[in-house]
Amino acid sequence: MQNDEGQSGQSIHNIVYCSQAVQHMGKEALEKIIATARHHNPIYGITGLLVFGSGIFFQWLEGPKDNVTSLFEIISKDPRHSNVVLLTKEDEFRERLFPNWDMELVAAEDISDVLEDAMHGASDPKHRKALSNMLQHLLGSSKN
Ligand SMILES: Cc1cc2nc3c(=O)[nH]c(=O)nc-3n(C[C@H](O)[C@H](O)[C@H](O)COP(=O)(O)O)c2cc1C
Repeated sequence: MQNDEGQSGQSIHNIVYCSQAVQHMGKEALEKIIATARHHNPIYGITGLLVFGSGIFFQWLEGPKDNVTSLFEIISKDPRHSNVVLLTKEDEFRERLFPNWDMELVAAEDISDVLEDAMHGASDPKHRKALSNMLQHLLGSSKN
């Protein structure tokens, strides 16, 4: 893995995905993920944001391309979540959006607006379908 810091003026790669938690995620389970992230991410120059709400994760990862790609591969195989949908993947010449966040956890009271936006923005029909399934799941579970 590369170990550069993705300083200003360098290309920052970012990946945004969403996924569905396999089991109920309590505070401790979430803290465990964040602790792992805070341990690993600075070593690889990765910063970002993890949003969790109603059983759905959204994560923004930014840093050197090889490192972000490798981490995403590891995370995708994590048995704590499934239905991992890659929403965006891009290289940009800009500063980091979250330079001081090794991985920040943000709680979403209601993540359905975010899912709907992502669904409308998704160009791949497979992704739209997966997002729509998650949304249905979310709306269904909130009615019960
Ligand atoms: C939703 C989610 C987000 C995760 N985010 C990160 C992350 O940002 N950085 C990280 O190192 N591991 C993250 N993980 C954990 C990895 O999937 C994996 O368990 C971990 O990197 C393995 O670390 P270990 O070999 O030290 O146990 C995440 C897991 C989940 C389910």
